[in-house]
Amino acid sequence: MNLLVTRRLPEAVEQRAAREFAVVQLAIDGAFDGNSVLRHCAGIAAILCTPADRFDASLINRLPDSVRVIATFSVGVEHIDMAAAAARGIAIRHTPDVLSVATAELALTLMLMAARRAGEGERLLRAGRWRGLSPTFLLGTGIAGKALGIFGMGRIGRELAKMARGLAMTVHYRNRNRLEPALEGGAIYHGSDTSFLAACDILSINAPGGADTRHWLNAERIAGLRPGAIVINTGRGSTVDDEALIAALRSGHLAAAGLDVFEGEPDINAGYMTLENAVLLPHIGSATVETREAMGFLALDGIADVLKRSNGTASG
Ligand code: DGY
Repeated sequence: MNLLVTRRLPEAVEQRAAREFAVVQLAIDGAFDGNSVLRHCAGIAAILCTPADRFDASLINRLPDSVRVIATFSVGVEHIDMAAAAARGIAIRHTPDVLSVATAELALTLMLMAARRAGEGERLLRAGRWRGLSPTFLLGTGIAGKALGIFGMGRIGRELAKMARGLAMTVHYRNRNRLEPALEGGAIYHGSDTSFLAACDILSINAPGGADTRHWLNAERIAGLRPGAIVINTGRGSTVDDEALIAALRSGHLAAAGLDVFEGEPDINAGYMTLENAVLLPHIGSATVETREAMGFLALDGIADVLKRSNGTASG
């Protein structure tokens, strides 16, 4: 079976893919170009893409009939037009679960860096501007005993909640539905944005992107956060209205932000660049060797499963 892969994958994943499929590797590095997929997808049964590759309806409608499955190297699927794929009978597979701990770890990293002004301190030190210890120098805020509000209490949000409890934080959450007590783990559910936002010392966005959450964190909701609150986003950049967040970081209403995802990434709002109180990372939430290998293997499992069902075998 022919598998088209849009970007380079961890070595162990590429090796397994080569054992199980006839691989066409596009090795795209940078901006995605749907035409390069179309040029190489004659006879292709499966496509392995990433969240940086937009499979909109126009691209999906031009794929050959041989394509039976698109697997994305991500838990998020908002870069794929699911309705267009369903209409073409193309199955979609993604990589949930295996990246939950890694992404929660990165949210925690951002939370600590933002609260303790770690990015600012490192920049200052590297610039040779550190004049030695002083009782008033670079004071941040502690996180023990603080309230963490998790917007989107899915698998990643719940892993973050576990970590936060270990750090003596109280956990609040906002979710489409209230979780059953075993999954809630003592976290406090809020049925409205107003009560949820007012409860947060630190807000962590762990919700998926897409139309339902677009610009959820806007000026009005930011105003509902306590003065001095911190915002963390490891979900999707589209959930945040950048101009509103930048204005609140500039005015001091928010103490800091830690962001791993951005609307329009990798081209991010230039307003972030000059903000000392913003910690900015290049979408590395799931970027550990273990996690990226597990994601690749899961994507290959999903592809093999779909092809087996429709074909009888995934090899050849
Ligand atoms: C995902 O899986 O959706 C992540 O954002 C990519 O690491």
